[in-house]
Amino acid sequence: MNLLPGPVAIRPDVREALSEMPVSHRSEAFLKTLRNAKELLCQLTGSRQVEIMIGSGTLANDAIAGQLSLTAGRGLILSNGEFGDRLVDHASRFRLSFDVLRSDWGDVFDYERVERVIRQDALVDWLWAVHCETSTGVLNDIGMLKEACAKRSVRLCVDCISSIGTVPVDLGSVYLASCVSGKGLGAFPGLSMVFYNHQIPPAPGALPRYLDLGFYASRDGVPFTHSSNLVSALLRALQRFRSTNRFVETLDLSMWLKGRLRELGYHVVTPDAHASPAVITIALPDPLRSGDLGRQLEDAGYMLSYRSDYLLKRNWIQICLMAEWSRERLVPLLDKLREICAPARRSMA
Ligand SMILES: Cc1ncc(COP(=O)(O)O)c(C=O)c1O
Repeated sequence: MNLLPGPVAIRPDVREALSEMPVSHRSEAFLKTLRNAKELLCQLTGSRQVEIMIGSGTLANDAIAGQLSLTAGRGLILSNGEFGDRLVDHASRFRLSFDVLRSDWGDVFDYERVERVIRQDALVDWLWAVHCETSTGVLNDIGMLKEACAKRSVRLCVDCISSIGTVPVDLGSVYLASCVSGKGLGAFPGLSMVFYNHQIPPAPGALPRYLDLGFYASRDGVPFTHSSNLVSALLRALQRFRSTNRFVETLDLSMWLKGRLRELGYHVVTPDAHASPAVITIALPDPLRSGDLGRQLEDAGYMLSYRSDYLLKRNWIQICLMAEWSRERLVPLLDKLREICAPARRSMA
């Protein structure tokens, strides 16, 4: 049972689409599939445009950093976890000029402070933050950021890599946002996306071809070789979002699961009020070690997220609900957690 934040469990019809013979990225069939996938992505997020690139989420964030490097103004990056820190790294590698506002891992941002910084520093031109901070499960408040940015015409960029497909996301007034195929959307890893709502001209003198969103836009989204297999699988996965009430179901299941975990004596790191329903982070008490528990659960058939350095370092383990789950399918995991952890629970009591 795959409870990872990616790759996620893939439905049979999506697997089938991947295994079809590849078709040329210049064929009418491929262009139609790509157009349909883009249309569904825009419908799902309320965005006007999207470019789909071959690569992981890191590519989409590099493409965003590339766009920001074309603007003269300074930026503000918010970080309350691993992926906020990675945005800082993306921006540093592009030598962008920016400040960083940090909150502790697992905490939310002080939105009044964000507003104050934007108000007091007229040079702030863009703000970049992570929506679902996957390292902790905190769901940062895009609505608050949109409000703060709108007051000063600050361009808002958001990493939505682990939020799109798990919670409702409205990118209507967002400048640039990143996403991937292999998490909440339930397709294979390998495609990354950047959403936008404005015209992006090509920047041949300033950006590498692969990172130049305007170049994608000027070539109808296909500037060079694309993967018909990955795009077909993505389209198949996206078609599911039209017919199910996925977000409500995930939230309901997550609340139920967190309740059971707390009954077993586990500490869920992120308070429910600002947590993503799809990423449940558990801080293990001594003498449990996340590496040992993760391996034991793996041997029992449950793949949880624990191998990342930042999780091992904090002795955290994560249960992710990015694919389709039900209470019935999660009960055996809870039984296993009870069984494996019984000695530790006694020492917790
Ligand atoms: C919020 C967030 N941003 C960025 C990334 C990096 O994406 P990738 O590993 O696909 O390059 C991840 C990966 O988990 C993520 O969760």
